[in-house]
Amino acid sequence: MPDPSAQGYDVIVLGAGAAGLFCAGRAGQRGLSCCVVDHARKPAEKVRISGGGRCNFTNIDTMPERFLSQNPHFAKSALARYTPGDFLDLMTRHALTWHEKTLGQLFCDQKSGAIIDMLLAELEAGGGDLRLDTAIEAVTATDDGFEIETPHGRLTAPRLVVATGGLSIPKMGATGFAYELARRFGHDIVEPRPGLVPFTMEGEAREAFAAMSGVSTPVTAQADGPAFTEAMLFTHRGLSGPAMLQVSSYWQEGGSVSIDLFAGADGAGILKELKAEHPMKSLAGALETRFARRLVDYLVESGRVSNTGRLADTGHRELEAIASQLQGFDVRPAGTEGWRTAEVTTGGIDTAGLSSKTMESRHRPGLYFIGECVDVTGWLGGYNFQWSWASAAACAAAL
Ligand code: FDA
Repeated sequence: MPDPSAQGYDVIVLGAGAAGLFCAGRAGQRGLSCCVVDHARKPAEKVRISGGGRCNFTNIDTMPERFLSQNPHFAKSALARYTPGDFLDLMTRHALTWHEKTLGQLFCDQKSGAIIDMLLAELEAGGGDLRLDTAIEAVTATDDGFEIETPHGRLTAPRLVVATGGLSIPKMGATGFAYELARRFGHDIVEPRPGLVPFTMEGEAREAFAAMSGVSTPVTAQADGPAFTEAMLFTHRGLSGPAMLQVSSYWQEGGSVSIDLFAGADGAGILKELKAEHPMKSLAGALETRFARRLVDYLVESGRVSNTGRLADTGHRELEAIASQLQGFDVRPAGTEGWRTAEVTTGGIDTAGLSSKTMESRHRPGLYFIGECVDVTGWLGGYNFQWSWASAAACAAAL
């Protein structure tokens, strides 16, 4: 029986994050009445804190290969139909400007709050309602669609979009809501794991790395996936910095991370050049022209670099052996910092149960999943927001 006190919409969107707000704005502008519901007091808090407050909102080098998923083809359609250029057009319409920091990463010149304001303006332009500070007490499938129970009354709609994100940073209101709901409707979940997250070390390595806390150095790093050439940062608990965050999404528990301290350059060649430039220096002294002193001290103390005599007396064979030590600076992390600091969740709702064109459930017509809750995870650098925009746009076009 339809509940006469319930408020009816064409679409209800659960989650007022990047994906949910964007989807509701676009659906509203197609003439659909939309309501976005979120338990948080403020919308899109992850947009606000992202990119150090300037939101790395997309990456101009977006390509499907830069996303992790059990089905590497799934993201292709949505990413091709809503591109970084499309989002830039939207920004331009809202008089927002941007700059590229590095590696195709686009940041807002304004504060990240300006992107939230833009998402809210788009929602308003479509006439959408936003209900914040509203717990979702129950979701029921009915003959006509879905009924959402909240402390402020019931909402009904023939279509329901779930955009409640993943598990990273529970302090900010992240919950496993999307996974629980998906399971109820027969979806499989690819084990959610913390991604883009710092590594922790144990024992001697932890102590040694803590002593180097704050030291950053460019590396090429790899763990069960592609190699990344970016900065690595020593921390009180282990290793962080973009290179480590990137490989953490591919790392398997118990596995090692290979690290090339010459960041893909010809290490032996560099040492030979150092020898030619600084023949009277010790190897450690010469390495200090390239690496932080605390790192060089550690390399010597840990026996990776012998520091006897002058470089002039060090043979090329020895330099080659030292170079390969520094190019094979492999570590075995004890774990990661986990959900507390992970920027994203890898895994999520199995894409096998979703349409890649529309994000609609194959188990329940009218039910859609978008954004981070889906088993599609981007690299560090604006890829995850691009997935939020693209999956939301694909969904909104199909509602
Ligand atoms: P998001 O998590 O944004 O939104 C989900 C919404 O659902 C939230 O508002 C939440 O309150 C709500 N919700 C959850 N459970 C609920 C429940 N049970 N009931 C009601 N509401 C519920 N990416 C990138 O591309 N560039 C970047 O610079 C950064 N930087 C960055 C920094 C940090 C610190 C973090 C943690 C993350 C990033 N990211 C990023 C990742 C990016 O923030 C993330 O991929 C997107 O926000 C995902 O968007 P969604 O809308 O899917 O989820």
